[in-house]
Amino acid sequence: MEVKTSLLDNMIGVGDMVLLEPLSEDSFIENLRKRFDHNEIYTYIGSVVISMNPYRSLPIFTPEKVEEYRNRNFYELSPHIYALADEAYRSLRDQDKDQCILITGESGAGKTEASKLVMSYVAAVCGKGQEVNKVKEQLLQSNPVLEAFGNAKTVRNDNSSRFGKYMDIEFDFKGDPLGGVISNYLLEKSRVVKQPRGERNFHIFYQLLSGASDDTLKKLKLDRDYSKYNYLSLDSAVVNGLDDAANFRTVKNAMQIVGFMEDEVQSVLELVAAVLKLGDIEFKPESRCNGSDESRIKDKNDLKEMCELLGIEQSVLERAFSYRTVEARLEKVSTTLNVAQAYYARDALAKNLYSRLFSWLVTRINESIKAQTKARHKVMGVLDIYGFEIFEDRDNSFEQFIINYCNEKLQQIFIELTLREEQEEYVREGIEWTNIEYFNNAIICDLIENHQNGILAMLDEECLRPGTVTDETFLDKLNTICAEHQHFESRLSKNSKFLTDHSLPHNCFRIQHYAGKVLYRVEGFVDKNNDLLYRDLSQAMYKANHSLIKQLFPEGNPGKVNLKRPPTAGFQFRASVGTLMKNLQTKNPNYIRCIKPNDKKASHIFTDSLVCHQVRYLGLMENVRVRRAGYAFRQAYEPCLERYKMLCKRTWPHWRGPAREGVEVLMADLPVPAEEFSFGRSKIFIRNPRTLFFLEERRRQCLQDLATLIQKIYRGWKCRSHFLLLKKSQIVVAAWYRRYAQEKKYQKIKSATTVVQSYTRGWQARKLLRELKYQKRCEEAVTTISAFWHGTQVRREYRKFFRANAGKKIYDFTIQRIMQKYFLGLKSTMPSMSPIDKSWPARPYRFLDGVHRELPRIFHLWRCKKYRSQFTEEKKAVYEEKLEASEIFKDKKALYPSSVSQPFKGDYLEISTNPKYQKLNSAVDEKVLLADVVNKINRANGKGTARIFLLTKKSVVLADQKTGQVKASVPLPDLASVSVSTQSDGFFALRLKEGSASAVKGDFLLSSEHLIEIITKLHRTGATAADSKQLNVDISDEFLVQFKHDKVCVKFIQGAPKNGNSVSCKRKNNRLLEVSVPTTA
Ligand SMILES: Nc1ncnc2c1ncn2[C@@H]1O[C@H](COP(=O)(O)OP(=O)(O)O)[C@@H](O)[C@H]1O
Ligand SMILES: [Mg+2]
Repeated sequence: MEVKTSLLDNMIGVGDMVLLEPLSEDSFIENLRKRFDHNEIYTYIGSVVISMNPYRSLPIFTPEKVEEYRNRNFYELSPHIYALADEAYRSLRDQDKDQCILITGESGAGKTEASKLVMSYVAAVCGKGQEVNKVKEQLLQSNPVLEAFGNAKTVRNDNSSRFGKYMDIEFDFKGDPLGGVISNYLLEKSRVVKQPRGERNFHIFYQLLSGASDDTLKKLKLDRDYSKYNYLSLDSAVVNGLDDAANFRTVKNAMQIVGFMEDEVQSVLELVAAVLKLGDIEFKPESRCNGSDESRIKDKNDLKEMCELLGIEQSVLERAFSYRTVEARLEKVSTTLNVAQAYYARDALAKNLYSRLFSWLVTRINESIKAQTKARHKVMGVLDIYGFEIFEDRDNSFEQFIINYCNEKLQQIFIELTLREEQEEYVREGIEWTNIEYFNNAIICDLIENHQNGILAMLDEECLRPGTVTDETFLDKLNTICAEHQHFESRLSKNSKFLTDHSLPHNCFRIQHYAGKVLYRVEGFVDKNNDLLYRDLSQAMYKANHSLIKQLFPEGNPGKVNLKRPPTAGFQFRASVGTLMKNLQTKNPNYIRCIKPNDKKASHIFTDSLVCHQVRYLGLMENVRVRRAGYAFRQAYEPCLERYKMLCKRTWPHWRGPAREGVEVLMADLPVPAEEFSFGRSKIFIRNPRTLFFLEERRRQCLQDLATLIQKIYRGWKCRSHFLLLKKSQIVVAAWYRRYAQEKKYQKIKSATTVVQSYTRGWQARKLLRELKYQKRCEEAVTTISAFWHGTQVRREYRKFFRANAGKKIYDFTIQRIMQKYFLGLKSTMPSMSPIDKSWPARPYRFLDGVHRELPRIFHLWRCKKYRSQFTEEKKAVYEEKLEASEIFKDKKALYPSSVSQPFKGDYLEISTNPKYQKLNSAVDEKVLLADVVNKINRANGKGTARIFLLTKKSVVLADQKTGQVKASVPLPDLASVSVSTQSDGFFALRLKEGSASAVKGDFLLSSEHLIEIITKLHRTGATAADSKQLNVDISDEFLVQFKHDKVCVKFIQGAPKNGNSVSCKRKNNRLLEVSVPTTA
């Protein structure tokens, strides 16, 4: 449910002054102060909004706030300018009523800010869309442009509007903005040439100088230094919190958005520059022969630059500053200007140039923002006009007079419209109404604007009168005509009571405005009203080669010389204010009354006297009184019933029926006297604020009770829901627990059942088994018995056939079967074909022993034969040799086993191929069977000498190892035998046949590493030599050797191993050669 806050909720002080109790000026001010101290800057008087200037930004203008106030009733929320803007916008959109927002207050009270807030609120809540947004943007961006050119820093306000502005925003039937029209009122142009102390010129001058690029300034022939320009006051050129450079960019950007062309912006800046230049043109007197002084331009440089800027011929302007031409009918009279007149002309030109430029800007903006369609539209006017101005410390002049006149008119319209609206409402609602007295300032307005004897009319008359006219003659005229007026005071008026009033100087008059007495000094009234620009100057301007300047001075066109005087400033202003007032009267007014809390532009300061003064002259107290004289509070029936329906049982909680009846029932039920309220057509009117407070108090109590009730019901509901939740949870928990318990129980029963079952089944099975076993035994017994029985029968039958043969036959058969099985079995378990494989499958029966011995032998022989049959001839020869070696040495010589694995290579010296032995080879004509190096043992000392040992088919040859020279050649038949030891040495003795040719030298004792091979080969060769018998091989550890003449015994002994492995040979004596062979491990 949406929580609605009301004007009456959380109120600080009283949000609507109408409800103030008791009503007095003090309580009024106190209420304002209290609210101001709490940052509540807005307060209502009925539908009028009082706005206090906070002089600081408050967080109450956010988009969220806009949303909050959007489409809400005026009194629904706490007072805000947005509420007023929303009310105005909605009644414009929904009720088709043109609206105007009238913002009044002193200078610096926050009018311009208020107008901007209203515009931005309306922009935020009205329709959206590309086109609409563009219009909105243009309307909003017109502000910075006009502010730059029309606002200035004053002592009252750093951004004081020095012109009046009224802006009509036009909407279509849907409430979408279509465009707008801006009207401007009387720019304070005197500021262009002179600024009061502590104030400065219009913002644009400073913005241009500090914000424009160097390039732009160069083009405009300007210098950044303010002090160069006479028209710029220096004492407050820089304003705190005002960034002129940044603002210049904003202004340029705004001009672009509004639709200014590049060249238009440039022209505008040129004009601004021209005004500055104009201020620097200075004059000096030059005496003429007739004794009078004539003015001359001091330094023509500035004039030249200005003329260049505006495209004016320098001589033309120079002349215009020196002469004045007066045309009267057919005559043309030229007079020279003195210095003072020249300055006057210069300043008049500057002022005119600037003010016309300003008006042109407004026209130009209007061109951009004007509605594109001709369709009927609704209008919301926003009036932000300069506030009432009184200077205590300096002269109030023509400008202030005009400004205050305007405010006077606005006050009147306020009085008229507020009261009229109030009265009309009573009539509309059918409420009885008696008129209320209030101060009507119509009389003051009349003093100023009366067509016959009003001050403005007399000023005009004075200005137009032929003859010498001065400000003094004007004052004289006032003194004679207005003397009787209640609100006019002057020293010389016939009203003698002011004769002695020294606060009233002679050249002044005083008007009692609604907002206070203002003393005006007449000096300058006539001039300013005339607003005279010498024709020479306007003509010079018209001649300029500058599109904008030409437009601004149409009266300078020589072709259209108008001898009629232009309308005076006062006249023009009165007329435009008149139009404005007429315009405002056709619209529904909405008032924002701005109040300044202090004179220091400071936040948090509330000066009672200052506020009190404003409250007085703004007529706010009267406003409240008028509002309360009738009925202090009114409210439509629906919201009223909605708000207070809880005060009566019959209307609470719902009232079915018309709201008015509901309210009637409600009021009748309450202890409120009947005269305290009236029922209008659509609203209830409550006379006394106290009644409203009573209602509010009752409502507050009622709300408290209701809150308690709601709390009670809520708490009950909460406890109940909690309880139900707990209950539900408990059921769930219980259910789960039960399930769990049942599951457990079931598991237990199930396992018990299984146990019982298994026991039963086991018992049954065992029983069955027993029965089956018994049955089987019975069957077996039966079978056995029957077998025995049959056997007995058969045996009895066949006994006669068995007797002698059956046993042998069975035996033979059995043996046959066994053998068959054995042989078939052998087939799969035969050992490998390798001759050295000794394995043989075991015999299954002992009686097979014979077979078992014979079979492996046969198999081995067969296997060996197979093996041999694979051999080549060479391999066969090798094996034969090996076999022979085995036959000779096996188990006879210890060296033999180590030779088995050594292949018999034969030619160890590669005698046929090695070139070293070529000679030797050729000396031996037989094929060499063996060639090796052997040691020939010296017979004398047993030392060895290396010799080449060759064996051919026919002979043995010994040759020198180095030279290859044959030392001895022994034909094989000459060899008697070979002797070797039983041990592992390589010694052998070649014993020669006695009596042979070779025997002369004696036997050879040699040693070789290849002993086995040599002996074997010798043995073989000897055997194959056809004519010789087989060579004997003696194997013995002692043998005799014939050395030439002696027979020496060669004895082999087992030597100690410490001698190393070498075999040592020593001649022991004549008869003994001892060979010591190390023991083999
Ligand atoms: N609602 C506001 N919030 C914050 N500052 C404000 C507000 N209204 C006015 N001011 C301050 O007061 C100054 C004067 O306000 P302005 O509207 O220019 O006064 P006026 O137009 O009445 O002369 C502003 O420049 C601003 O600093
Ligand atoms: Mg302003």
